[in-house]
Amino acid sequence: MHIPVTPAGAARMAHTGSPLAGDRDVAPAPVLIERGENAVLCTAGGARLIDFSANGGAGVTGHRHPVVISAMRAQLDRLVHVGAPFASTAQATSLADRLETLAPIAAPCSTAWATTGAEAVELAVTMARLATGRRAVLAFAGAWHGETGMARALSGVRTDTSSGGDAGARIQFLPFPHAATGAGLDDMRRSLQLLFRTRLAPQEVAAVVIECVQGEAGVLTASATLLHDVRALCDRHGIVLIVDESRTALARTGKLFALEHFDIEADLIVLADGLSDGLPLAAVIGRQPLVQTVQRQAVQRTMWGHAVAAAAAHAVLDVIHDDMLCSRAADLGRAWMNRMQDARRTQTAIADLRGLGAMRAVEFRRPSGEPDVLQARVVADAAIAAGVLVSLGGSDANVIRFQFPLTLSDDDLGDGIDRFVAAMNGAQA
Ligand SMILES: Cc1ncc(COP(=O)(O)O)c(C=O)c1O
Repeated sequence: MHIPVTPAGAARMAHTGSPLAGDRDVAPAPVLIERGENAVLCTAGGARLIDFSANGGAGVTGHRHPVVISAMRAQLDRLVHVGAPFASTAQATSLADRLETLAPIAAPCSTAWATTGAEAVELAVTMARLATGRRAVLAFAGAWHGETGMARALSGVRTDTSSGGDAGARIQFLPFPHAATGAGLDDMRRSLQLLFRTRLAPQEVAAVVIECVQGEAGVLTASATLLHDVRALCDRHGIVLIVDESRTALARTGKLFALEHFDIEADLIVLADGLSDGLPLAAVIGRQPLVQTVQRQAVQRTMWGHAVAAAAAHAVLDVIHDDMLCSRAADLGRAWMNRMQDARRTQTAIADLRGLGAMRAVEFRRPSGEPDVLQARVVADAAIAAGVLVSLGGSDANVIRFQFPLTLSDDDLGDGIDRFVAAMNGAQA
């Protein structure tokens, strides 16, 4: 199958033999997509791709879900948006009410809107700083929170930080305990003690920002002990716990919010692109006094709480409920795991298969234990050429990520995995 690539992609192929970015200093060249329907994307040349990347992992209900599209259309016929200060729409206010009821926070909640995940993360940090009067923020190695200045500064993956970051942000990183990072819980605790002894008093920390599953780092699920430790730290020192669920909500991990797996409460939850399935809408939901810090300051952006995106988000929540997409995510993850465990028997380069719900990953390593970056890239290229859209990840770019639309049919799942496995077996770095 011929998958057309952009001129930039062709140039990249000439240099590297790959249209994908297997490292972080070369921009990926996009495959040109013309149409999408549920889990299937079509290129301008008519090639068919099964979408195992779900809009960067943020897509829940697939491409152009009929219920979501008709909600968007109905809203377009009434009102596109109103961006005036001190005005809102019925769609946005009722969506806020609905999310506040669903969020796993027992205290009374409020919602503040943003447009993207990065913006929402920044907004949450602003709330924490305003509420505590403190400045420092703790984040985790391997985290990814977006491309704006503060969000990038909070992201603990190897990037060109000279072009981003926020020098005044007072951000400190802790190791993320996981088998794949080589760090244990004790390492994290020791780093924290050292930090508090040498660089920062706990009373200077406004917030801890964490993901329940680090997607960009290669789908690393936090342990319950880590999250409970972090909650206890925040309680002890009056620190705001911000959980970034931009990729893990809604339903992707098998629960509406990934936090529900761990039985802890955040103070602020960041939601983003999965909310409205294709339209830019993000939110910070959390304890009222925290969210009201920005409401009192009349922090406002023109496109926040966009009416069409809010109407789409209502429809996404309806579909998640009516089609039981939380249990579907868990089933998809199990089916993927069973099939990939079979495939692993003949693939020595696979070092790990992991994930939570429908957020999955294959990690490639050489027999020496070194990250097999080349194999990951070659397999990802071969998979795309075979008609399966996957994405590379991992701090060493040696991981292939699978993030299916939760509306994916069993046939498309099976077909996509078959194509991936055949591509993997045929691809030798
Ligand atoms: C956990 C997490 N937070 C925030 C973001 C940034 O979201 P956006 O691209 O909408 O700014 C991402 C994007 O990948 C993400 O994975």
